[in-house]
Amino acid sequence: MSTKDRLTTPVLDVRDVSKEFVHQSKKIPILRDVSFSIHEYEFISIVGPTGCGKSTLLRIIMGLIPPTKGEVIYKGERVQSVNSRMSMVFQSFALFPWLTVLENVELGLEAQGILKEQRNKRALKIMQEVGLEDFENAYPRELSRGMKQRVGFARALVIDPEILLMDEPFSALDPLTAEGLREEVMRLWSDKFTSPEIVIMVTHNVEEAIYLSDRVIVLSQRPGTVILEFNVGMPRPRDRRSPSIYELTDKITSLIA
Ligand SMILES: Nc1ncnc2c1ncn2[C@@H]1O[C@H](COP(=O)(O)OP(=O)(O)OP(=O)(O)O)[C@@H](O)[C@H]1O
Ligand SMILES: [Mg+2]
Repeated sequence: MSTKDRLTTPVLDVRDVSKEFVHQSKKIPILRDVSFSIHEYEFISIVGPTGCGKSTLLRIIMGLIPPTKGEVIYKGERVQSVNSRMSMVFQSFALFPWLTVLENVELGLEAQGILKEQRNKRALKIMQEVGLEDFENAYPRELSRGMKQRVGFARALVIDPEILLMDEPFSALDPLTAEGLREEVMRLWSDKFTSPEIVIMVTHNVEEAIYLSDRVIVLSQRPGTVILEFNVGMPRPRDRRSPSIYELTDKITSLIA
């Protein structure tokens, strides 16, 4: 692939994606003609009101469910089954309570058939990167919410995904813990040796989206459709309390309220 192609060919192309669910034999439209493209090294946020189909869109992007209409193209090919180059971080952590932290983190590697010794090495390294050293034998119930979400991140990152999907990863955390974990995500994102090429984060929080992302995609009320897409264009590291972040947050919030 030439340099020009690398610059112009998107890694992920969401094309006219619509989704309907059938409820009591009635078709309910959830997403309508959603289109956007994502290039390598982009951190994208998708914001929108509750129930507008954000989680559904992430599931379609990952290949967990098919769209009713339209398609998702990943590196030139249509996504038709679960894309193993992507992993997901969930709001609710989604950890297995009967497994230790280390076992939870190793799960994705086990699914890839990686041998025990290698799994262990890789899991311990990623746990160290996300601040989980010394917790390998703990069970999820013994951890605070913030630490549980660190396990969520470690489990997603351990497979070295090309695209990291995050579904409201900070919204079940108290404000201070959320702030700390956002900083960590930014630190990991700046470290190009360990980070995924692309992050797609779903959030309700416009300020959080602006603080973290290169580009923000705003969806309408259900059925969700793209009503606004904007480049944040602020250099990193960003100051969460800077007036420019507040101003942009106000402007976007008033546009979508
Ligand atoms: N499998 C399903 N079958 C039927 N309806 C569904 C299914 N999954 C989601 N829905 C409905 O689709 C709508 C959109 O759901 P989705 O979870 O994608 O929205 P969301 O934007 O992520 O919402 P929230 O901000 O509350 O997380 C909701 O009304 C939900 O009830
Ligand atoms: Mg959701």
